[in-house]
Amino acid sequence: MSASPKKRPTPKKKLPTGTAPAPTERAPVTIPRLSEMKAAGEPIVMVTAYDNPSAEVAEEAGVDVVLVGDTAAMVVLGYDSTVPVTMDEMLVLAGAVRRGLRTPIMIGDLPFGSYEASNELAVENAQRFVKETGCDAVKLERGGQSVDRARAIIRTGIPVMGHVGLTPQTATSLGGFKAQGKTADAAAKLAEEALALQSVGCFAIVFEAIPADVTEVLMPQIDVPVIGIGAGPATDGQVLVFHDLLGLFTGHAPKFVKRYADVHGQMATGMRSYVEDVRAGRFPTEEHSYSIDADELEAFKGYLSAESLAARTPWDW
Ligand code: KIV
Repeated sequence: MSASPKKRPTPKKKLPTGTAPAPTERAPVTIPRLSEMKAAGEPIVMVTAYDNPSAEVAEEAGVDVVLVGDTAAMVVLGYDSTVPVTMDEMLVLAGAVRRGLRTPIMIGDLPFGSYEASNELAVENAQRFVKETGCDAVKLERGGQSVDRARAIIRTGIPVMGHVGLTPQTATSLGGFKAQGKTADAAAKLAEEALALQSVGCFAIVFEAIPADVTEVLMPQIDVPVIGIGAGPATDGQVLVFHDLLGLFTGHAPKFVKRYADVHGQMATGMRSYVEDVRAGRFPTEEHSYSIDADELEAFKGYLSAESLAARTPWDW
């Protein structure tokens, strides 16, 4: 589902893609396609994105699913947790991401406070993601009452992704940002939540910070695609936060993050060079300056020498 399913915007720029098939030539990924990938054992690649350039990078790299995650609160807005980000802020970010994507499924992450209180609130905010930004689906956290909210949203025709294990919106009640399902009882609770989300029709479920062995023994019970983040290799796909995997976020990275680049370092190096160049008079040079015809310049100099600009009264302008 999308606000403009047939005519998604084409990203403007292209990055070198090596030997991989040009991702922008791929057919748009659909929710049934994710199930096919699970059945075929084809890993599903998901990443977060929060703005237009990061969406374009995900598009060009051939990502299957893009989540406009509420982690934006931390990696983009500078908060200590995901809790403060608002629905209105998420909509601005999702709109920017939409304009950079053509192929991946795009999911809007319902932020804390936007769905818990009632099914009506959950449906209203899920519809805002779809109507106002063109999201294909939404994600919400936890089992319990979230199962009811997921069911209500799905009944209105909006696909929902569940999220169990470490659920950052309620990390305080989980004892902080730490792995979940580490006892038999805790693993059983987590399994029940996943099965409940599946039973109401969630098209996929995120498993976050769960022991790899727990994931492995649970996977045969789950029919929908499971996307892991710190849940080991047995899931149907993996998700990482854009800023974590590319090294844009300099704060603490959880154990499950693998850094594939040092973009922050590269940005800082570039910025330092700019600062030094300006201070040393090395920038701008002729290469970065506009020119004027010599006779036009002479005429202008004549004008300047004939009159004092400073002596002009304001109404002459
Ligand atoms: O908000 C987010 O980035 C997420 C992912 C970590 C799955 O929920």
